[in-house]
Amino acid sequence: MPRAVVLGGTGSIGQAIARRLIPSGWSVELTGRTAGRLPQDLLEAGAGFRQADRSDLHTLRETLRSGADLVVDCACYTASDARSLIPFLSGVEATVMISTKAVYVDEQGRHVNSESPPLFPVPIRESQPTVAPADGDYRTAAGYAPNKVAAEQVLLNSEAPVTVLRPSKVHGAGALRPREWVFVKRVLDHRPAVFLAHQGAGVDHTSAAANIAALVERVAAVPGRRILNSADPDAPSALRIARVVAEHLNHEWREVLLDERNDVLGLHPWDAPFPIVLDTSAALDLGYEPVGTFGDTIAAEIDWLVNEPQRRPAADDSFFAPFFDYEAEDRYLTS
Ligand SMILES: NC(=O)c1ccc[n+]([C@@H]2O[C@H](COP(=O)([O-])OP(=O)(O)OC[C@H]3O[C@@H](n4cnc5c(N)ncnc54)[C@H](OP(=O)(O)O)[C@@H]3O)[C@@H](O)[C@H]2O)c1
Repeated sequence: MPRAVVLGGTGSIGQAIARRLIPSGWSVELTGRTAGRLPQDLLEAGAGFRQADRSDLHTLRETLRSGADLVVDCACYTASDARSLIPFLSGVEATVMISTKAVYVDEQGRHVNSESPPLFPVPIRESQPTVAPADGDYRTAAGYAPNKVAAEQVLLNSEAPVTVLRPSKVHGAGALRPREWVFVKRVLDHRPAVFLAHQGAGVDHTSAAANIAALVERVAAVPGRRILNSADPDAPSALRIARVVAEHLNHEWREVLLDERNDVLGLHPWDAPFPIVLDTSAALDLGYEPVGTFGDTIAAEIDWLVNEPQRRPAADDSFFAPFFDYEAEDRYLTS
């Protein structure tokens, strides 16, 4: 039985990998800091869980002592994280490091976390320049991408056959930040309207965890040192995302498509002024077959949000709070 270990594996990507590999006959072990985050259905399906911080090298050694056919690192954020993994990879057939499209820069050196928005070619290939590698706090907008690049480079310069995946905006059951909540919550709150800045035209490529998992399975079959973008076969606009959510939940609302963004109305997570679309032809050339489009794959996250209230973002979650100014919306609707 092939064995996979997923570090930081109790989130959307790790859960999707387990759901993909276990039915194909894999043994899958997931690590994470919180025991209760792994859903019951995965435990019943045979997923193993080891409670450990990614930085706990003793547990990492124990976990990989007997080797593995596949290691996926969903919690590799810095060069130091990457360096700490390398000594344990000698008995590992294939390793995948989950990086991010946030590493890319445009001709002016702008990236998705810059103060001014990037203007990328459409689509972005893996050869697009990246920010320079750096250390420092990876939890900041300025530090996230440079630390990821540094981690990528450490692993790609090692002897191990490490494949770096660069997803865009990930969606899937179990996500710590399920962005589509901005529309799901509106439906659950019986809101009569959805407000969208820039007419909802913004495109910031989506990456289904299920599609990432399909690519991971393919990489396990053909290990190698490479970088691959990982995104859905389509790149839906925010308006399309809102419509898919409403349709899935049989909800009708008025679409208020705003020309100009203001400070309150129409905010949403996909409001990129210039489209951000990843070229996934390198993954397809490797033989990866996507599970489906955004519309085909988003139900997993929507149904999970609807059916598991305890997993939803907290009411005071600072990321989501700005998207739900219902009083301002009501004033607009009645004016
Ligand atoms: N989400 C996105 O839109 C997105 C986009 C591009 C790239 N990525 C990359 O994807 C990876 C995250 O994957 P995801 O989206 O599946 O994550 P997620 O849904 O945000 O969940 C993260 C998981 O990792 C665990 N974790 C976090 N820190 C850990 C640590 N120090 N040690 C052990 N486990 C830890 C968390 O559980 P505990 O807190 O219980 O430990 C959680 O289950 C990151 O490398 C990120 O850079 C994400």
